[in-house]
Amino acid sequence: MKNTGLALKPLSATTGVEISGVDLRAPLSDADAADIRAALNAWGVVFFRDQALEPEHQLAFARAFGTVEVRSHPTSMGQVDGHPELAVIRREPTDGRNTGGFWHTDQCFLPDPPLGSVLYAKQLPTRGGDTMFAHMGAACAALSDGLRDMLRGLRAVHVRLNYHGIDGRAQWGVTADELAHYAEKYAGIEATHPVIGRHPESGQEILYLNPIYTDRFEGWTRAESQPLIQHLCARATRPENICRFRWEDGSLAMWDNRAVLHYALDDYPGETRVMQRCVVLGPWLHPPGSA
Ligand code: SIN
Repeated sequence: MKNTGLALKPLSATTGVEISGVDLRAPLSDADAADIRAALNAWGVVFFRDQALEPEHQLAFARAFGTVEVRSHPTSMGQVDGHPELAVIRREPTDGRNTGGFWHTDQCFLPDPPLGSVLYAKQLPTRGGDTMFAHMGAACAALSDGLRDMLRGLRAVHVRLNYHGIDGRAQWGVTADELAHYAEKYAGIEATHPVIGRHPESGQEILYLNPIYTDRFEGWTRAESQPLIQHLCARATRPENICRFRWEDGSLAMWDNRAVLHYALDDYPGETRVMQRCVVLGPWLHPPGSA
């Protein structure tokens, strides 16, 4: 750390750090931006509290890390009026489904997934609604040499539709009619990525998989692939490997979408939770074995 006045408080052994000593309504100094980026590279996700932000402040913060994406693919998320870059993640008491309520990275089913996501709390339940994060660099480092070596040679196919239904079977109470609608809406939205990539800034090897969108290894059937995918994801999300963030009014999180999985908890029945998210584009994981 340079002498920027930022203070860092890690939330777990490998994942997540809270940063204080900065007001995100003001433009970030170059030194603060560099230190926040270093913290993101080290911990995978950074958290800030007590920030009273307007949409333009959230966007200005995100732009310190790269280009903010204007929606590039079909989605059911709403948008903030006048700010098409900001998606609204709204959960009302009557909504059966909890957006993001499973371990995943954002937009892994696109050929160029975002570098990171910036999430700001707009309306929170009186309790619950935390988000968990798991560092996939730590998960990769914990594998045996033999398994890691084998995975370096694999690529995996990530499928958008899997969120709603897999092999024609609906998930999370989606009806057959809804699944047919989603199958049309998300047809062909899938991408293939290396299973292990090298982080472009930290140089750390990252396991790039998640339990829902990652459908299969390239050249393998889904049935052959799933036992290993689920084994790897279960190891990666062991309690020792995660942090859990308790949102408060004014909390903002930015995660490195290349390095961590995240999971929005579904434990606030009868209450509303509203979050505002933008995603930042930037360099992707390098192939394994590259510098
Ligand atoms: C997301 O999955 O991007 C949203 C996470 C959350 O709402 O906590």
